[in-house]
Amino acid sequence: MSSNDRVIIFDTTLRDGEQSPGASMTKEEKLRIAKALERMRVDVIEAGFAIASPGDFEAVKAIADTIKDSTVCSLSRAVDGDIDRAAEALAGANSGRIHTFLATSPIHMQYKLRMQPDQVVEQAVKAVKRARNLCADVEFSCEDAGRSEIDFLCRIIEAAIDAGARTINIPDTVGYAIPHQYAETIRQLLNRVPNADKAVFSVHCHNDLGLAVANSLAAVVAGARQVECTINGLGERAGNAALEEIVMAIKTRADLLNVYTNIDTPHILSTSRLVSGITGFPVQPNKAIVGANAFAHESGIHQDGVLKHRETYEIMSAQSVGWHTNKMVLGKHSGRNAFRTRLEELGIQLAGEAELNAAFARFKELADKKHEIFDEDLQALVSDTLADEAPEHFKLVYLEVASKTGEVPHATLVISVAGQEQSVGAEGSGPVDATFKAIESIANSEANLQLYSVNAITQGTDSQGEVTVRLEKGGRIVNGNGADTDILVASAKAYINALNLMQAGGSKAHPQVAGV
Ligand code: KIV
Ligand code: ZN
Repeated sequence: MSSNDRVIIFDTTLRDGEQSPGASMTKEEKLRIAKALERMRVDVIEAGFAIASPGDFEAVKAIADTIKDSTVCSLSRAVDGDIDRAAEALAGANSGRIHTFLATSPIHMQYKLRMQPDQVVEQAVKAVKRARNLCADVEFSCEDAGRSEIDFLCRIIEAAIDAGARTINIPDTVGYAIPHQYAETIRQLLNRVPNADKAVFSVHCHNDLGLAVANSLAAVVAGARQVECTINGLGERAGNAALEEIVMAIKTRADLLNVYTNIDTPHILSTSRLVSGITGFPVQPNKAIVGANAFAHESGIHQDGVLKHRETYEIMSAQSVGWHTNKMVLGKHSGRNAFRTRLEELGIQLAGEAELNAAFARFKELADKKHEIFDEDLQALVSDTLADEAPEHFKLVYLEVASKTGEVPHATLVISVAGQEQSVGAEGSGPVDATFKAIESIANSEANLQLYSVNAITQGTDSQGEVTVRLEKGGRIVNGNGADTDILVASAKAYINALNLMQAGGSKAHPQVAGV
């Protein structure tokens, strides 16, 4: 296959993925994910929306300053301030891209932008030119292209390419497209836009009808050569096309699709787990590629077939996406070297010896409670260690919970608040409820609990429980995580982590809410 057959993988987990309610990430968490994406050889990492908040700006900048092998991109609306801020955040990048967008559908132009089509074209051209003066690599997106008129798309795309855009993105912003129709749109644009050969055509599909991956692949068949996607399909509303599904469909059906990607697929699973652990969005067991059951054969006939010849029931190998490479377990006799090596193999880079020592001490504590430490345990343990090392307003010092049949559960705990220890007791309808009430009687956060979820990280009753607590206050949503072999301790840690994130504050603009 020639280089024209390569599909550029543009990952937007850190931008569109973060727009999933509750999926906000800290700068450090985004940096860890960006490193995992670079290791997986993602071509373009959309690191955020630099103008959205000082935190977003810092995260885009840190990623741009650190990542060397992938292009780092920042989103910006088609306005001067956004474009300048994106360029500023990307200044240190080896290879940076400004991604500017403006809505092109009649409904968005009339009701959201309150602009005439001529004005929209003029603004798009102005934005692309300004971006090109600041950055050689500019992408222009026709927001809501899925509901835009084809003649208008041809007109604005030709103008954007003339103005210097080298990637033209055709987003199905509201997940409205159907594969054959979306493919036809791409085909027509490639045929009708006179300067189409000067740009890469990209697709960005949302999953409102469950068709994001199918639409993206249909567009690739029609000639699109960049797919925008997210790990685990995270994203606004029903999410975006899942990177792992796009990449493995292209790899597994190369015979039919005749294209390829540069993705190093054995890193898919660990990246999926990293994103799930950080965002607190669990992966459903029957999720393609990365779900716990994706390669599990239950029926006897299937098991028998796979044992005789794997391809009878498997279209790709589990190893090719990272399953079974994580069989190696560590235990309480494992040394620092084995621990460090395994972290490196998992793509987890700790900042220095102090962080490694803290994580190793936790590992030893965990190994005393649990015989075998799996990769999932290591990922949770590192997340926990890093969360603990960050400056924290609230810190769990001690927790005791009493729960007996026929009696009201009671939690006693000690929390350090800005360095001052406070103790309290509370009753609740269950042990978790009592624990959260006790924490709240100290914190008085007035936040609403939106989600409490517990996941066993590995198999067996000695597994660590990974808890996610989602809190909302004044429209701001945060996700706290905690892991421990004792799920009450994990629950308390997750609640306290959420309170600390809330305390850290900072609000941000949503790229698609505010008009231009
Ligand atoms: O869905 C969408 O239209 C977007 C654009 C900003 C590319 O996310
Ligand atoms: Zn989107």
